[in-house]
Amino acid sequence: MEFKAIVDTRAQSASACAVIGLYDDGLMDDAARRVDARMGGLAAKLFAARDFAAKLGDTLLLARPAGSKSPRVLLVGQGSKKKFGRKQYRKTVQAAAQALLKTGAGDAVLYIASDPEVDLDAYTRARIVSETVSAQTYRIPDLKSGPKPKPPRLRSVRVAAADARTAKTMQLGLDHGAAMARGVAFSRDLANLPPNVCTPTYLGARALALGKEFRRLKVTVLGERRIRALKMGAFLAVAQGSAEPPRLIVCEYRGADPKSAPVCLIGKGITFDSGGISLKDPPAMDEMKFDMSGAASVLGALVTAALLELPINLVVIVAASENMPAGNAVKPADIVTSMSGQTVEILNTDAEGRLVLCDAITYSRRFKPAAVIDVATLTGACVIALGNHLSGLMSNDEPLAEEIEAAGVRADDRAWRMPIGEEYADQLKSNFADLANIGGREGGACTAAAFLSRFAKDLHWAHLDIAGTAWVGGAQKGSTGRPVPLLADFLINRARGK
Ligand code: BES
Ligand code: MN
Ligand code: ZN
Repeated sequence: MEFKAIVDTRAQSASACAVIGLYDDGLMDDAARRVDARMGGLAAKLFAARDFAAKLGDTLLLARPAGSKSPRVLLVGQGSKKKFGRKQYRKTVQAAAQALLKTGAGDAVLYIASDPEVDLDAYTRARIVSETVSAQTYRIPDLKSGPKPKPPRLRSVRVAAADARTAKTMQLGLDHGAAMARGVAFSRDLANLPPNVCTPTYLGARALALGKEFRRLKVTVLGERRIRALKMGAFLAVAQGSAEPPRLIVCEYRGADPKSAPVCLIGKGITFDSGGISLKDPPAMDEMKFDMSGAASVLGALVTAALLELPINLVVIVAASENMPAGNAVKPADIVTSMSGQTVEILNTDAEGRLVLCDAITYSRRFKPAAVIDVATLTGACVIALGNHLSGLMSNDEPLAEEIEAAGVRADDRAWRMPIGEEYADQLKSNFADLANIGGREGGACTAAAFLSRFAKDLHWAHLDIAGTAWVGGAQKGSTGRPVPLLADFLINRARGK
């Protein structure tokens, strides 16, 4: 899909479909009114006749309206003008995109809520357009044998700006949004693939392919022997019961001076979490193919950064493994030595995410990172605490936590701050090792993060628990691509020098 900002002061561009927005009191902004005037006020008449109520997300396609420069005009409802903001804008564009993709139009020009009274800057509006329209074209990797669905006709979307300066700002937003959407789609593809396809080896291969695609990216994939040489005893304990070998994937993106400290993103890459010897119950065990969503999201954010050639240094680390039961699998009560030297009593083999992550966090130290963010579908407890709406955010660094929170707000991919600290760390005490890998049912998301914090001392570190946000279950089962928008916004914002 091509996205372009055009200077179109008089709303007179011809296209296969013009899209105009109406508020639920019938009001239109200047551009929409001009388009409507040319068709004799048809939109206004339809509104007056109650044929189009302009509720948020309503659409009505007008075919060949007399006088119009475009053979189609799509009306889209913007709801109440008073309530109109970022979420409403997103909903409006989403509805417009859905309707557009059902038409035969190959290109479209959008005239949606460009009125100056709306409190949304041009960059944000444009970014939402390319992000949302692209998301509507996403299709799950198709492993069905029937006839393939036809690709949509729509190839080009233009947004109208009133002057050249605004158009330039909007083009930046469009480019950023399109790159974010590519990152999201990359992430969703990986997470949606079945676990017999998306193995640790496969994740490594996809990362290596990214290394070939992007000039500034160097990718190294470490196998079991080298992981052992690094003394990653916690990571290896998770992997030892699986027939699929583990992979430590290290992607170094260099967009800035080599001396500038990198941001380090770490992803939990459990390609299937059976629970191991602490086997999970059968219901919804299939969803544990999504347990590599953290890995998928940090790779997705990397795709966005590389596409935009962001002037930052970024290191992405993925600890990829299965978690399986077997005769040689790790057992409850086993004690392992992590790369940090701390010993861990594994009381529950289903708390495996923190075991692979703790060694990845220790590994990240060699890059002397400016910030470390790990992303993981870590705990069911986080889903209980926050539902499927917000990701959990824990950090040992106040400014970093605030920066991440703000990125989530701007990207409509929010995270909610949750505590860590001595109280929670105390729950992890073990009689036999430096710490246990579980801390009881109470505050499970916080004790998991507290476990990780034991490996993040003196780092500027944050943890995102995405167990509730990374995928949806039910009829629409599939990956959401979260938190790629949050991470991408974070990186874009860092690149801008804050
Ligand atoms: N991958 C799961 C967390 C999870 C559970 C994500 C449900 C999404 C939905 C993780 O590895 C896990 O099994 N965590 C355990 C930890 C417990 C044993 C302390 C959990 O949350 O039950
Ligand atoms: Mn588990
Ligand atoms: Zn898991």
